[in-house]
Amino acid sequence: MGNPFRGADVISILDFNRGDLELLFEYADRAQKRLGTKLDVLKGRVVALAFFEPSTRTRFSFEVAAKRLGADVISVSGEEAISVAKGENLADTIRMLDAYGDLIVIRHKHEGAAKLAAEIAEDPVVNGGDGWQHHPTQAMIDLYAVLKLFGTVDGLRYALLGDLKYGRAIVSFLYGLTRFKPGAVYLVSPEPLRPRREVLMKLEELGFRYEFAASLDSVIEEVDVLYVSRVQKERFPDPAEYERLKGSYVVNLKTLSRARPGLKVLHPLPRVDEIALEVDATPHAAYFYQASLGVPVRMALLSLISGAEI
Ligand code: NCD
Repeated sequence: MGNPFRGADVISILDFNRGDLELLFEYADRAQKRLGTKLDVLKGRVVALAFFEPSTRTRFSFEVAAKRLGADVISVSGEEAISVAKGENLADTIRMLDAYGDLIVIRHKHEGAAKLAAEIAEDPVVNGGDGWQHHPTQAMIDLYAVLKLFGTVDGLRYALLGDLKYGRAIVSFLYGLTRFKPGAVYLVSPEPLRPRREVLMKLEELGFRYEFAASLDSVIEEVDVLYVSRVQKERFPDPAEYERLKGSYVVNLKTLSRARPGLKVLHPLPRVDEIALEVDATPHAAYFYQASLGVPVRMALLSLISGAEI
């Protein structure tokens, strides 16, 4: 099979089919086995990180992944992003990084920023999260986490709990599930945080089956994977609406008391208060394990895009 990632932009998880993702997961397995050694497969290449929005895990894991593969990393963020604050437009910043580097990872608060960057840059562009809808590399990590935890993504029952209106990680995970054959998918969110029409239309177009569940309690007994996300405070146009909705759902020991013993809780992190700390010590908590897969999955992606073997 060819390598569909070679030289490709990664804007949405929907750009890839099941076979593509399975190839990525094979590479991630290999990357994971070689985590202890510094590789030189990307030696001489420069990965440019353009993070115009705060990030901890995504930024660090891309940086570590690139360095473990032997690449050099340059980054625009914090102080350096100041020329953007000075009024430099996104297109000019991207042109500059395109000239200096070989691959660009971008994070931006605006939906569509990664696509715009990809249109401008000749280098491959990877979307590290833009706006409310797309965060493809997080979805890759989340699907890989499910695969590692259960041996399969198919046939499992999923509940997606949280901010499906503004949360790009949870929406991207939902899009990612369309590439597989889940046993059931329940969407659980306060009414105002249900997925946007655009997302529902996409699911419809793909013939993907899901159900809205009125509450987590109504489905907790049957699910295998509970994917939780925070209310995305920074994306609310009206702070009063955020105040009304924050704290409207929480997963704690009481919630999980009726769960299947094998239930795993995923969360893209950071969490605010939607998973009580008491859950961390239970066998259900898989979110720190999930976060640890960020490096091997991003190593896999960077090497595939660069056409390098690991
Ligand atoms: C997510 C993001 O930035 O969209 N975080 C991440 O990349 N791990 C989720 C979030 O911020 O809630």
